[in-house]
Amino acid sequence: MIRLKNINKIYSNYENETKALNDISLEIGQGEMLAITGTSGSGKSTLLHLLGGLDMPTSGEYFFDELEVSKMNDRELHAFRKQNIGFVFQDFALIGRYTAFENMELPLIARGVKNRREIVMNCMKRLGIDHLAGKRPAHMSGGQQQRVAIGRALVSNARILLCDEPTGALDGKTGGEVMDLLEEINREGKTVIVVTHDIKVAERCRCRIEIEDGRIVTDASD
Ligand SMILES: Nc1ncnc2c1ncn2[C@@H]1O[C@H](COP(=O)(O)OP(=O)(O)O)[C@@H](O)[C@H]1O
Ligand SMILES: [Mg+2]
Repeated sequence: MIRLKNINKIYSNYENETKALNDISLEIGQGEMLAITGTSGSGKSTLLHLLGGLDMPTSGEYFFDELEVSKMNDRELHAFRKQNIGFVFQDFALIGRYTAFENMELPLIARGVKNRREIVMNCMKRLGIDHLAGKRPAHMSGGQQQRVAIGRALVSNARILLCDEPTGALDGKTGGEVMDLLEEINREGKTVIVVTHDIKVAERCRCRIEIEDGRIVTDASD
């Protein structure tokens, strides 16, 4: 599904150059559950952003099925993200003045979907969060907010879920429950990629890569 070939990413500002990714080659199959681990600053988020079409490599090739993402212009990237990618962040990134239902409805509004109530409520039921529909983020626990954020990433049928430290703001038990949910979503066939520095989270993924200074240093699968 995903093929990265000799990907480099260099950030340059004024006199500084940071080589965030250094010759990354990687294949990720459909339905995979992959953990990307590494210390802070190793390049994990940069890699996730490239996979999600939020940023472009400085050089190298990125293929998603037959699409060459690394050759896309902004308009094509936007369409690629909309069609294929769901993002989940450490801080949930929900909109505070909207209810859980409204937060999950947003991606459908952006796509001009009509039967939104039915789609959102079905997704909420599936994730066991339908009782939260009318609540605002400030009235939900961290675990509940992350479930809503996962729901928001799923409603539009993204093919792949990209999660940047999804348990980073949660206690161990709640983080474990969020991982239960991601595992369940993966068992239903969705490709799930999780950036984490928590070994417990990584161990729950079938495949694991570790990056250090922008390079893949270990590549393991169960
Ligand atoms: N927008 C940016 N501009 C300049 N340097 C950046 C930018 N984003 C990340 N970096 C640098 O790239 C390296 C990798 O960062 P990042 O991918 O965020 O690491 P991680 O997510 O593993 O902590 C770090 O040295 C970081 O400082
Ligand atoms: Mg990061």
